[in-house]
Formats: sequence, C-alpha cells, structure tokens
Amino acid sequence: MRIIKIFDTTLRDGEQSPGCSMNVDEKISMAKQLVKLGVDVIEAGFPIASPGDFAAVKRIANEVQGTIIAGLARAKEEDIRRAWEAVKDAPKHRIHTFHSTSDIHLKYQFRVSREEALKRSVAMVRLARSLAEDIEFSPMDATRTELPYLIEVVQAVIEAGASTVNIPDTVGYTTPTEFGAMIRAIKETIGNTAVIAVHCHNDLGLAVANSLAAIRSGAGQVECTINGIGERAGNCSMEEVVMNLATRKDFYKATTNINTKEIIRTSRLLTRITGMHVQPNKAIVGANAFAHESGIHQDGLLKEKMTYEIMRPEDIGLKQTELILGKHSGRHAFKSRLQELGYDLAPEEIESAFVKFKHLADQKKEIFDEDIETLVTEEFSRIPVVFRLMDLKVASGMGVVPKSTVKMKIRGRSVQKTAKGDGPVDATYKAIAGMTRTKSNLLKFEVKGITGGTDALGEVVVTLEENGKNARGQGADTDIIVAAAKAYINALNKIASRKK
Ligand code: KIV
Ligand code: ZN
Repeated sequence: MRIIKIFDTTLRDGEQSPGCSMNVDEKISMAKQLVKLGVDVIEAGFPIASPGDFAAVKRIANEVQGTIIAGLARAKEEDIRRAWEAVKDAPKHRIHTFHSTSDIHLKYQFRVSREEALKRSVAMVRLARSLAEDIEFSPMDATRTELPYLIEVVQAVIEAGASTVNIPDTVGYTTPTEFGAMIRAIKETIGNTAVIAVHCHNDLGLAVANSLAAIRSGAGQVECTINGIGERAGNCSMEEVVMNLATRKDFYKATTNINTKEIIRTSRLLTRITGMHVQPNKAIVGANAFAHESGIHQDGLLKEKMTYEIMRPEDIGLKQTELILGKHSGRHAFKSRLQELGYDLAPEEIESAFVKFKHLADQKKEIFDEDIETLVTEEFSRIPVVFRLMDLKVASGMGVVPKSTVKMKIRGRSVQKTAKGDGPVDATYKAIAGMTRTKSNLLKFEVKGITGGTDALGEVVVTLEENGKNARGQGADTDIIVAAAKAYINALNKIASRKK
C-alpha cells in the first residue's frame, strides 16, 4: 500500500492564523507531540520572518528528534541561508523554498517576467541544494498558473536538485476534479523523479477534498495543519485527511505513518496553546463528532456499532471520559495517570502539579483527564511570571454594585487593589489593570466548561491588544471569576515577556 507523507505546517502556515501565534516553549511542546503523532515532516517556521521565528526553528531543530525539520525560505539568497542556519543541526532537515508562478502574482505583486521567475527559482534551488540534500520547492499560486509553464518550472527545479515539488492552492481556488487533473499531468511528466506534494487552502471549504483528489492522481505528500488552522480559512486539516485515508483504504489504497490514537491529544494540545477552539460539529475532533443524539441511531448503535459508526472513537484516542482521581488519591496514582496521559515530567514538576491537583480536588469532587491536562498545561506553559494572582474576593449579586479585591505579586512585590465594575469580572479586571498599569485593550472574552457538571473546571480565554499586537491568555478554575483573572494575568505575562 502507498504511504502518503504527512508534512505538518501547524507551526508555520497554521501560526499565521489570526490569534494563533505561539511562543517558543509552546512550539517545542507542539513539535514533540507532532513527533508522537508520527508526522513525516514538521515545517517549524519561516526563519527570516523574525528573530523569534529563527530562534524557534533553531530550538526545534536542536531539541526535537525523530522527524524531518523544515524551514521556509523565499527564493532569495538571504532567506535560504537563514533557513539553513536554523535547520542545519536537526539530524534530518529540509529547506523549503518558494516563488510565485501565476501571471497574477508575477505581474501585479513581483513585477517580474515568467523567464525571470523561472531563473530565480532554479538558481535558489541550486543554492539550497549546495547547503542541504533535502530540498522542497513550491510554485506559489500554482492552481492559477498556466499548466505548461507550471510544468516547465517543476521540471527545471527538479533538475536543479529539488526532491519534493509542492503544488500549492494558495488561495483555495481549485476544485477536486480540476486539481486531480493538474496533479495527474505533472505526475505523467515527472514520473518518480521527485515527490509531488500538495498544499491546499480552505477558502471554499475544499482543502481536504482537493488534497484527496491529488492523492488519487499520484501526490505522495500532503501538507496540512492540526485542526485545519492556517492563513484565512485555514489549511487542509490533518486529522480529516488522515482519517479519510484510514477509513477508506479500500478506495484510496493509501495510508500514512500517523498514529491515529494521538489525534485527539494533539488537537486538544493545540487548542489549549492557542485558545482557538474547534467547532463542535468539526469532523473527527469536534465535540459532537462521535455523539449520537437521534433515537433511531442510538437504537442501531446499541444493536451493532457498525450501523451508524464508520470510525471508532478509540481510533483517534478518544476514551469515555473516565472518573479517575479524587481528593484521596495519592502521589503515586497521580504520577501514573500523568504518565498514561503522556506527560514526562521531572520530579519537581510532578510535585508542583500534585499540589495544584490537591487544591483542585478540594474544590471539585471528580477529577477528569481533561482537568489534569488543563492543570499541567497551565502549570508548565513556561511564560516568565511577572504578575501572579495571590488572592481574589468578590462581592456581587442582584442590587449590589460588584466589587473585587485582588491581591497580586508584581515582580515579587505584594500589592492589593479594590475596584468596582459593571459585573464581577469587570471589577476584577479594573483592579488588575490598575495594579499592573497595563495599556492593553481587551478584544475578546470567551468562557467554556472543560468537563460536565456545575463543579466543572471553567476555562476563560481572553485576547488583549497592545501596540497593534495581540496576546491570548488562558485560565482555568472551578470559580469562573478566578479563571477570568488568571486568563487576564496570563495574557499580561505574555505581553511582558515580549517586551523583555
Ligand atoms: O499557501 C502557500 O502557497 C504557501 C507556500 C509558502 C507553500 O504557504
Ligand atoms: Zn499556505
């Protein structure tokens, strides 16, 4: 059976989604999880884009093993050298370079002729090939490029040393039939001289369908992101394309190296890091993807699962949420649960998480896996802590002007402030804003229950804006006002760490 390579660009194209930027530690956690998931290539970033991007790609190249680490570069000498510097320490590395080929881009954006674009692409692939063995080239906006010219570019870059040619549907314009024919024409010309990759955007909701059509026509690599995040309407969703291949092997006659049991954990990790939730009816990883509501369906399922279930929840790593630990559970049980959940923590980290767990268990009778995952991610997000919440007392209710007294440590110094507001969260935020003297604006405030029940751990995600840059903060607690305060302070810490 053919193995389709999965090239994950969550940390590059995915990170280009509004509000999805990640700090270096978050990128490292995500990259390590992508290795567990079994992706063949991680596109770790665009090293020339900023010093932060360069540092992130370099750290991933040094710390994350078991997969190819790729860095993106425009077809420009300085980009290619920077990408090489960033990825070269990875045991397996790739330079991914690109140049537009459509007349629309060449005429209006780059103001170069087709001949010049071809010449630059070839020269830059040659330069990249003089530095690294594994080179990928993308003719950007390929799906709006005249086919004979596209094929000419593809052939020329293969001759210059590209071992993968990626055909991007940059603006999400193509259709499955049209794209399938385009990939077939390229495959018939180049044979097995290079791997054909596809990179589809989802502007018309066709990214997965277009990628699958390309696989049928001979593409050997799919570029995708977890939860389908990415520029504008996003990229091809990894979990959807992988589960299509897994579920319909009979039709596609192809498979991947993905350990599908890691899908849900990877999807949730990304959600926790970025604060960007997937819609409940999203295929594969949405909250309702395996929930059967209709009586007729439930009746069928009770008789035989196959009646209405084409995939098993456990295939993507979804378990019935189990009741696992409570306030009487000890360190040993807690530690082994952490290991089962895939967390490999140092003894002092386990100790610190255990203290938090006990505190949570005092507030909440039943501790679910999701509670533990939230607690651990919150504890080890590794953002430098300038502002810390120490205590919070709120007075609110009908006919009462809400008032909040917040105690914080700011750079190690204890401070306290009381403020009034339109509601308890507003009063709390006013107190925090007063003490931290923040100049940020609150753009978004979202609340979500992590587990069921009135004692559920509530999660709050806020987006702040300062000097044109956004920062997302998350906080979880059984008390939603405390969760809101934690989320606000988390975002303020992110802004402070940027200033540093
Ligand atoms: O969408 C696109 O064309 C890209 C390229 C850089 C591959 O992201
Ligand atoms: Zn893209």
